[in-house]
Amino acid sequence: MGELMLVTSGKGGVGKSTVSFYTGLTLALRGRKVLIIELDTGLRSLDVIAGISEQTVYHLGDVTAGRVKPSEAIVSSPLCKNLQLLCAPFSPEDRIEPHRLAWLCQGLDRFYDYTFLDAPAGIGYGFKVGCTAARSALIVATPDPISARDGGVVCDLLAEAGITRRLIINRVDAKAVARGPISDLDEVIDTVGARLLGVLPESTALHLAAVSGRALPEGEAATAFANIARRLEGEQVPLAVQ
Ligand SMILES: Nc1ncnc2c1ncn2[C@@H]1O[C@H](COP(=O)(O)OP(=O)(O)O)[C@@H](O)[C@H]1O
Ligand SMILES: [Mg+2]
Repeated sequence: MGELMLVTSGKGGVGKSTVSFYTGLTLALRGRKVLIIELDTGLRSLDVIAGISEQTVYHLGDVTAGRVKPSEAIVSSPLCKNLQLLCAPFSPEDRIEPHRLAWLCQGLDRFYDYTFLDAPAGIGYGFKVGCTAARSALIVATPDPISARDGGVVCDLLAEAGITRRLIINRVDAKAVARGPISDLDEVIDTVGARLLGVLPESTALHLAAVSGRALPEGEAATAFANIARRLEGEQVPLAVQ
């Protein structure tokens, strides 16, 4: 049985899709079989981040509605064949039925070491759909106090659903944290209430890679993703918390 993780947040735009993609890519480059399923119906972005817009013909809604087989809609990453992607529907009308997603994830489980469910922001329908399929969750928050507070709301809901939770703090700019009123990382961890898996820096290199479907160049962000991947694999990697 592989890992089946919901990547979620309260607040939007905190980096869920970016974190899903580069965590998945890092694990895939380590030899793991990884699938990312994007749940953000109507607001697809994974095809751009992964650089597969041209190859993406079918989507998750086509699979859950039985219009095509999973193999017809899943696209391999041009960066690593171990990483496979199933994008969200373009149309907001294309609702994903929770039991159909759970059925799909169960069927695909044996082919993958990791399946990441890249959730839409918030605690609405897409979040609930993701919760029915996931076994664990990565909560993404930034040091922004609103993002941390919203992450705490999500964390409580995941706990009620019996889903184990870990936290990734994204877009950390050490200088901004030092100047305040941006929360320091201990405050974010306390507010969200989940165990810290990793910290990602604010990074222009990451942003530029993510908008053009490219691999991350060596540097701070790539190292941070490598550490997250190693921790997911059970390695003891010290946490660098500023
Ligand atoms: N650590 C980071 N440093 C710089 N830009 C980032 C970082 N993480 C995410 N971004 C950028 O923030 C934007 C939103 O990220 P995205 O992953 O789409 O968020 P979400 O999926 O939570 O809506 C994108 O333009 C992405 O490139
Ligand atoms: Mg997203």
